[in-house]
Amino acid sequence: MSDAVNNCSTENSADLPFPDWMRAVQARTEATLARLLPPEEAIPARLHQAMRYATLGAGKRVRPLLAFAAGELTGATAQRLEIAGCAVELIHAYSLVHDDLPCMDDDVLRRGRPTCHVAYDEPTALLVGDSLQTLAFEVLARADLGARQLAMVRLLAHASGSCGMAGGQAIDLAAVGQTLNQPELELMHALKTGALIRAAVMLGALCGDPLEADAEAALDRFAKRAGLLFQVVDDILDCTASTATLGKTAGKDEAAEKPTYVSLLGLEGAREFADSLRTQALDSLAVFGERARRLIALTDFITHRKF
Ligand code: IPE
Ligand code: IPE
Ligand code: MG
Ligand code: MG
Ligand code: MG
Repeated sequence: MSDAVNNCSTENSADLPFPDWMRAVQARTEATLARLLPPEEAIPARLHQAMRYATLGAGKRVRPLLAFAAGELTGATAQRLEIAGCAVELIHAYSLVHDDLPCMDDDVLRRGRPTCHVAYDEPTALLVGDSLQTLAFEVLARADLGARQLAMVRLLAHASGSCGMAGGQAIDLAAVGQTLNQPELELMHALKTGALIRAAVMLGALCGDPLEADAEAALDRFAKRAGLLFQVVDDILDCTASTATLGKTAGKDEAAEKPTYVSLLGLEGAREFADSLRTQALDSLAVFGERARRLIALTDFITHRKF
């Protein structure tokens, strides 16, 4: 492993410029996921190949990046952060495989490649999602993550289930062809995407020393705003970026009659809303001063990303 990959730990990362730090965390995440996933020749080989196909080789790794950045607030070690970050990434990868299925968004392209059910088949994609989800909890439960490990398992379970990501997906499916008002849309986005982003931030912090109650509340406010911001930008990119840039089919939301921040507020209105969420997210980090500089840089990355 290169020095840059090892240096993304909180002990050694202070001098890395943000783009180098980001690449180092992404590389470390890739290497950890490759180690945590069953080898592709292990029986049942086709399922294991499909799990690795859906998880490895691409993806921005925003959730592990957020976990590592939040860990800088609490002095967490990279050994713990890679586990917490990868557990959330495994849930995220599962959510994408199921999100793309014909019974949900019916998408054929993901991360620049055929979706899992296209490259394999629908039953395999269903089982890939199931297996990635349970692997996430196995990984989180078997590592040594300190005194609050059980709280971490509970947090990720809540964020993934019917009161989190899966619940948001249910609202998303029920909302096709409907007009949602802003509070309804905010709830849908906060759950389907925000819940896992928030979990990534809070799990990263939980890997280190406990925060004071006020600081923990400020970090949670940041995490909620960043989670909503992430999906508002996803809505904007769906109607402004190309399929080639996104690595997934552009223009799907309008074609599928999904309510989004763009359909509610118009493109300019959605951009203004994203900008105000960015400001609110950054305001929540003020109490942390310089220690939040990676979270600040990630907020700007989430706001200005091109895919
Ligand atoms: C896409 O997430 C799905 C949403 C929750 C909006 P990402 O944009 O993080 O996808 P990858 O992991 O980088 O492919
Ligand atoms: C995805 O929302 C949310 C989850 C996968 C939980 P979208 O359906 O907008 O994500 P993309 O645009 O397909 O990546
Ligand atoms: Mg969807
Ligand atoms: Mg989708
Ligand atoms: Mg989308």
